Amino acid sequence: MSGYPPDLDRWRRAARISAEARDLGASLVVTGARRREVADAIERYIRSKGAEPAFPANLSRNSEAAHFTPDPDDIGVFEAGDLVKVDVGAHLDGAIADTATTVEVGGGRRHENLIRAVRDAVDAGVREVRSGVAVDTISVAIERAIHARGLKPVRNLTGHTIERYLLHAGKSIPNASGMSSASLREGEVVAIEPFATNGAGEIENGPFGHILRFRNDPGPKDPVVAALYARFRTLPFTTRWVDGEGRLHLAGAKRHLQSYPVFVERGRGLVAQAEHTVLVTAGGHELLTASAS
Ligand code: CO
Repeated sequence: MSGYPPDLDRWRRAARISAEARDLGASLVVTGARRREVADAIERYIRSKGAEPAFPANLSRNSEAAHFTPDPDDIGVFEAGDLVKVDVGAHLDGAIADTATTVEVGGGRRHENLIRAVRDAVDAGVREVRSGVAVDTISVAIERAIHARGLKPVRNLTGHTIERYLLHAGKSIPNASGMSSASLREGEVVAIEPFATNGAGEIENGPFGHILRFRNDPGPKDPVVAALYARFRTLPFTTRWVDGEGRLHLAGAKRHLQSYPVFVERGRGLVAQAEHTVLVTAGGHELLTASAS
């Protein structure tokens, strides 16, 4: 039995746009570049292709693993030696792709081992994807590739299946072995998302990273908030996308909102990430977020 999305071509298009936005973002992360301008450029690119960001461009640095996006007042710049995760998603009518890469600002090659570890790991994980495969087979491949470089996988961050308008659907794809008894089905869309670190191998919650999500429908009582819900539904968004009035109204709708903390490595180790979205097929997989070449 197969469960392919009926609008498969839309998923492919969203994935291509995501991959292009990821590669654009990676090229813009250079010494002295403003974080805010890079995030805006990534999201502007996605919209220029007729898609919407599936979540704010994540530009987490160093021991931040995920969930940092610049706020409207951010004046931070990238510095030489920063290890930056460019994690990007686009959607077309709820057909979502999610993809990430890690760059060292300034190209000094201080963090080459970490960057290679997650590239090896995502390739090794993707290679195992096929209909019926045990998720743990993928996790073993990821973990092995990261251990081979003397590093640790981040145990409490996982890849995930994706469904329409649902970035993290039912199944998790752990980055360490022995944590899942699930298997993959033909037609599923899956994000394979290894994180590697030279720290403790676990993340903990840090400060607010300027990413929000409606946990439920706020109803029509506040029309400004209702319009924001109509726009974002339950997908993550950020205050950069909302004008001053909207931000004021959101402050009064806190009980309908989930706010994401930045994930910080528990031992304050450096963290690298690589991520691809793939389609599970009968004989293997289709890599949806490959770089254009
Ligand atoms: Co993901």
